[in-house]
Amino acid sequence: MPAILLAVTGLDPQPWEERMRALAPQRDIRLWPQGLGDPADIAYACAWHAPRGLFARLPRLRAIFSLGAGVDHVFADPDLPDVPVVRIVDADLTMRMTEYVVLHVLMHHRRHRLYDTQQRGRVWHEHAQPPASAVAVGVMGLGVLGCAAALALVRLGFRVAGWSRTPKTLPDVETFHGDTGLNGFLRRTEILVCLLPATPATQGMLELELIRKLKRDGAAGGAYLINAARGALQVDADILAALEEGSLAGATLDVFASEPLPPASPLWRHPKVTITPHNAAASDPRALAANVLRQIECFEAGLPLEHVVDRARGY
Ligand SMILES: NC(=O)c1ccc[n+]([C@@H]2O[C@H](COP(=O)([O-])OP(=O)(O)OC[C@H]3O[C@@H](n4cnc5c(N)ncnc54)[C@H](OP(=O)(O)O)[C@@H]3O)[C@@H](O)[C@H]2O)c1
Repeated sequence: MPAILLAVTGLDPQPWEERMRALAPQRDIRLWPQGLGDPADIAYACAWHAPRGLFARLPRLRAIFSLGAGVDHVFADPDLPDVPVVRIVDADLTMRMTEYVVLHVLMHHRRHRLYDTQQRGRVWHEHAQPPASAVAVGVMGLGVLGCAAALALVRLGFRVAGWSRTPKTLPDVETFHGDTGLNGFLRRTEILVCLLPATPATQGMLELELIRKLKRDGAAGGAYLINAARGALQVDADILAALEEGSLAGATLDVFASEPLPPASPLWRHPKVTITPHNAAASDPRALAANVLRQIECFEAGLPLEHVVDRARGY
């Protein structure tokens, strides 16, 4: 039977291996590097930041499965063989991201960092609180994760808009698209949520000029940035500069160009920055191993793979 290779760095492969073995005891599941065996046995690679050049050394590879929603780590391999690259779309992952976005939009909206500081000083002081219906949230990226988050924010009463590459319609969400739609989207947005994929087109997008276009004089009392997408999209120095000059009132950052975020980064200690360790929507093997195995089974039964990434677009 064609073997499945788990090729993972930066996260613990053990729970994936255990879960896959439990769900498919009949399958030949191998763990890179020590369990690779004969590379010609491998038909499927389940990967997270696999070493560059590894896929090209697997002569009978039939598909690559990213163990997350993003595939930038796969496309970073300059020797990528011509096989389908599949990403994960799963309700578990989507709901985790929705939780994260809702949590951090509400945190900024309800000024939770400020109340936290007040509590440490035993300060009992109430600030004026606008309703969600007065606050404009903008979601960059209206894909699987962006749409789910946008709709949850609509349910909470926020004025929600979304921006994507191609036109989209979503109930109760004002939609913008493409380069021509970007300025209008930013100008009406107070809390910006980034859920774009990392591609050559989105690299370094979250920079000072873009941030300066956000709406600062709205009910939220300033502009906020939440990046739960990829670190490659953001320019850390520009975020710090924007916080300094006031074009940003606060930021939540889950992802960074270099992870873990180096201890020397000034972002760690900035009073207006909230940092999480790239855990906005963790890929949980308890939920997702079955998703990958089901795809492999369907593929072997002659059915088309789902969620195959478009190489030309890069997502
Ligand atoms: N921090 C975490 O824990 C975590 C977890 C999971 C995922 N993520 C990140 O979240 C990203 C989004 O995931 P997803 O499943 O929602 O992806 P998706 O379904 O592929 O959606 C991507 C969205 O971004 C839009 N987009 C792409 N390039 C664009 C551009 N140049 N200009 C404007 N819009 C553009 C797409 O527009 P169209 O609709 O027009 O194609 C689409 O709406 C992933 O790529 C990953 O990097 C992070």
